[in-house]
Amino acid sequence: MVAYGDERCLTGSTGVLGVIGDPIAHSLSPAMQNAALEALGLDYVYVPFHVSPLHVKEAIAGMKALGIRGLNVTIPHKVAVIDYIDEIEPVAGLIGAVNTISNQGGYLVGYNTDACGFLRSLKEEAKRDPQGQRITIMGAGGSARAIGFQLAVSQIEYLVIANRTKSSAVALADEIGAKTKCSTVGIGLEELESYLPVTDILINTTPLGMHPQVDTMPPVDCGKLPASAVVCDIVYNPLETMLLKKAAACGLPTLPGLGMLVYQGAAALEIWLEVKPPIDVMKAVVRRELEKRKES
Ligand SMILES: NC(=O)c1ccc[n+]([C@@H]2O[C@H](COP(=O)([O-])OP(=O)(O)OC[C@H]3O[C@@H](n4cnc5c(N)ncnc54)[C@H](OP(=O)(O)O)[C@@H]3O)[C@@H](O)[C@H]2O)c1
Repeated sequence: MVAYGDERCLTGSTGVLGVIGDPIAHSLSPAMQNAALEALGLDYVYVPFHVSPLHVKEAIAGMKALGIRGLNVTIPHKVAVIDYIDEIEPVAGLIGAVNTISNQGGYLVGYNTDACGFLRSLKEEAKRDPQGQRITIMGAGGSARAIGFQLAVSQIEYLVIANRTKSSAVALADEIGAKTKCSTVGIGLEELESYLPVTDILINTTPLGMHPQVDTMPPVDCGKLPASAVVCDIVYNPLETMLLKKAAACGLPTLPGLGMLVYQGAAALEIWLEVKPPIDVMKAVVRRELEKRKES
């Protein structure tokens, strides 16, 4: 990329990265990733692509044809893309969902950086190693699946999955248990209370508390958690959810969703370009974009 004054201009040798999803206009990734690429002085651009579920196959074929170096994959294509890539990294294979594709000279490899993004956030920001920990995840959707499998292969003590629809919690817990040999149990969200005193790490993966429903939260009495428990919320808008406010008021350490969002993007950049991503720049851009959205 060539700089004309303050402008960065594309040239014939500018590399292309991007994200596919439906919808895509709300994605924070273009702002976050382009800021990172600029800070690193790399001749790459990161582009949002609106791809309907009818055109996933063509989009992935197009990635090869156009020489797009890397793609992030967001809702609803994380499962569908697996049919069109050449190889899947083992944890992504266990999860059954891919959010990052690397184009290695026409050979496409799929990864799940949501999973390792959460793990890095837990270790680096909450200073908590999951090994030996008793973990409870609220929700049994796509993120619970990614985080659950990643933690299940991280030598944890056991995993409880609590969900509004109990049958989904039981199905996910059984699947994780069978594939990883981790001790798991699936329960209804209304049964959560009795598991709180034996939880070291509590993770919300439901949208409860997310903008605009900022006054909602999962049914958690934070006073029932051990004093050393850490409370995590993967919702990042707002940065501090009602659940995290209540946990902090009980004196518990908390982990907001911003870190997972930034680290999943950083992990993708590491895979594609073998660089050390500027985490502080990426966090600052996400904070700024969320502030802008609050105003609009
Ligand atoms: N920080 C990050 O990087 C990051 C990454 C991905 C997602 N997220 C956030 O994570 C959240 C979930 O994403 P997802 O992709 O996992 O969604 P998903 O696949 O749609 O799963 C949503 C889960 O939440 C439960 N749920 C939904 N509404 C609920 C309610 N009113 N009360 C109780 N439970 C409810 C659903 O339960 P049922 O099975 O009963 O429907 C389901 O288990 C979103 O807010 C998203 O923004 C953050």
